This record gives sequence, structure tokens and C-alpha cells, in this order.
Amino acid sequence: VTHLVTLIPGDGIGMETSAAMQEVVAASGAPIEWEVAPAGAACMEEFGAPLPESTIEAVQRNKVAIKGPVTTPVGTGFRSVNVALRQALDLYVNLRPVMSIPGAGGRYDDVNLVIVRENSEDLYAGIEFEEGSAQAKELIRFVEESGAGTIRPDSGISIKPISVTGSERIVEYAFQYAQKHGRNKVTAVHKANIMKHSDGLFLRVAREVAQRYEGAVAFDDKIIDACCMCMVQDPSQFDVMVFPNLYGDIASDLAAGLVGGLGIAPGANIGKDYAVFEAVHGSAPDIAGKNLANPTAEILSAAMMLDHLGELEAAERIRAAVRKVYAEGTCLTGDIRRATKSDAAPATCAQFTQALIAAME
Ligand code: NAI
Ligand code: MG
Repeated sequence: VTHLVTLIPGDGIGMETSAAMQEVVAASGAPIEWEVAPAGAACMEEFGAPLPESTIEAVQRNKVAIKGPVTTPVGTGFRSVNVALRQALDLYVNLRPVMSIPGAGGRYDDVNLVIVRENSEDLYAGIEFEEGSAQAKELIRFVEESGAGTIRPDSGISIKPISVTGSERIVEYAFQYAQKHGRNKVTAVHKANIMKHSDGLFLRVAREVAQRYEGAVAFDDKIIDACCMCMVQDPSQFDVMVFPNLYGDIASDLAAGLVGGLGIAPGANIGKDYAVFEAVHGSAPDIAGKNLANPTAEILSAAMMLDHLGELEAAERIRAAVRKVYAEGTCLTGDIRRATKSDAAPATCAQFTQALIAAME
């Protein structure tokens, strides 16, 4: 059967990495047909909005999508397309496997961890009050009167909601994932010592869920700041890691840095009904349109998508080609040249893509 998949190319380097991804998927032999749907700067003119309703509907229709990065416009009043899409489709899991690729310039060769980031609440809920606004003033008065504390009158305020429901489903996902993929441990990461009613709640719920898996999957927890140090010092101690939204965002880029950078870090946004695969990185405006981007992250995201669709052989063909091209080391993009401190000439996005395709033949 042919799988119909929604492709949101994105903007910035998304145009280049998505085209590369399409070529590589075609060469893998996977029976994929694309339905292209726009988002981001690319469709502001035509639709007057960065995330058209028709794009959300396209994902709902096909259930599976892959998405290039989208620039978040600052100061236009529009919310991040990424956050809006995750919320509209209730994609509550952000799954980011982090694995060493020999030759990619990682600091370690034995990183094999999985980041499970809560994707629907926390400071990403987008509930904010501008400094000096009537709402901010009212909130400040309420806080004062409640005896909870004081807030300076010239404060902007962002709200950090973390629910029992949201925490339970993300931790449950992490344990299910561990069990399904033969992994041994889940680590919950938090700052429960300071934020008792948000992170503290998350930790309490995580401990409750962990009890259901006692004897099957081990559990421990770490405080986010100490966790960052441990990840840098010895990432091999981690297996599956589950985070509230913001810490997961930050730790994802840190983990990508351990294995060679954002250019090779894939991911997926997953909900009950839909899945949208996308790289960890953003639209990289500093190198967009110059044929310099590393498409590996989006290509490995496509491999995750093929796993999800049951096209396991094609997915493995892509991953094997990636490993081969990095191990050979003759045709790698500039980000990897820098990570490996190599003086060799960098390959363009297009040259690297051709090398991957050649490696699959
Ligand atoms: P970024 O991830 O786009 O770039 C950070 C640095 O990494 C830059 O120096 C960039 O050149 C480099 N880089 C990233 N991906 C690369 C690749 N594939 N190959 C080679 N080098 C790469 O993060 P930044 O600059 O903070 O964000 C740029 C825009 O992207 C912002 O508007 C942001 O909101 C948006 N963004 C979108 C995301 C998404 O669509 N899922 C995720 C993260 C950011
Ligand atoms: Mg991020």
C-alpha cells in the first residue's frame, strides 16, 4: 500500500532540508505519496496567517505528517506555528532519540538515550500578561491579597500550568516506550524543590506511574540543573528521560550537542490520533538559502516516520546510509566539519544528499 503523508516544507533551511528528505525517502523505496501543505513565512502572503486551517485539516486527514522548521515571527502577534500545531492536534509527546553517529563529531561514542518531552503545557501554554497591562495589574493584586507573595508592578508574567492529567499521560508514554523498545530505566527530570505545585506535582505523578512498572522498568529522578551536568559528564547513564516542556526543550539541544549538533537530531510530535515528525532544529536563518544546511536531522525524522508507518526496511536502509556516509567522512556538511574540527571542504546540502542516495544503492 502507498502511504499518503502530509508534507509541511516549512521555511528557512526547511525548503532545502525537506527537498533533500523527499529525495532520500524516494530512493529508500518506501511507498510514500506526499500531500504538500504550507506553513510559516512562506504562506503569510497567500493566507494572511502562518498556520492555515487547511494545513491542520491535511494532517487530520492523513494522520501522519513530516514538517520542516518554521520561523517564529517575533512581534507580529502570531503565535509559534509549532506550538499552535502541537496544541491543535494535541500532540502531547515530543519524542527525541539521541544516538551517537560515528564520524559526526560527538563528544562520546556511546550516547543512546531518548528524550520524552511533554508537549502541551508548562510555560509553553502561551498564557502571558504584558507588563503594565490591566490584566497583569489585576493578577499582581490577586497574588498580593492571597498572601502567596509579592510581584513587582513592572513585571511581565508567564504562567506555568502543569496538570495531573498532562503529567500522567507523558510519564505513562515514557514507560510504555521503554517497555516496547527493551529499555531499562526512566528518569524524570524536574525542579520540584523550588516549584512544588508544578514540578513537584510532575514528580509525584511520575513516582505513582513508576509503581505500575515496578520490577519491569527502573525509575529514578534528577533535578534539571544537576541533570545537565550529568548529561555532559557521562550521558551513558541515561536511558529514557521524561521532562516537562521547557526543560525538555533545553535538554534536547544539549543532548544534540553531545552527539554532533542540531544537524543530526531527529524528532516526532505524537498524539493519540496524529503524528508529526520534525527535526529538533529551527529554520537557521543564518544559513538559509545557501545550500549549507545539514538535512540529516530531517532525514532521520523521516526514518522515524517510516518506522511508525511499518516501513521498517526502508527506515533501516536510510539509517544505514547515514552511518556509512558519516563513517567514510568524505562528504559532510559544514556544521559537522566544525564539530569534528576538520579542515576538509564542506559538502553542500545537495552533495551530501546525493552521497546518501549513492550509499543506498
Ligand atoms: P536554529 O536551530 O534554527 O539554529 C541554531 C544554530 O544551529 C544556528 O547557528 C544554525 O545555523 C545551526 N543549525 C540548525 N540547524 C542546522 C542544520 N540542519 N544544519 C546546519 N546548521 C544548523 O535555532 P534559532 O536560530 O534559535 O531559531 C531560528 C528560528 O527557528 C526561530 O524563528 C525559531 O523560533 C525557529 N524554530 C523553529 C523550530 C521548529 O520549527 N520546530 C524549532 C526551533 C526553532
Ligand atoms: Mg528547541
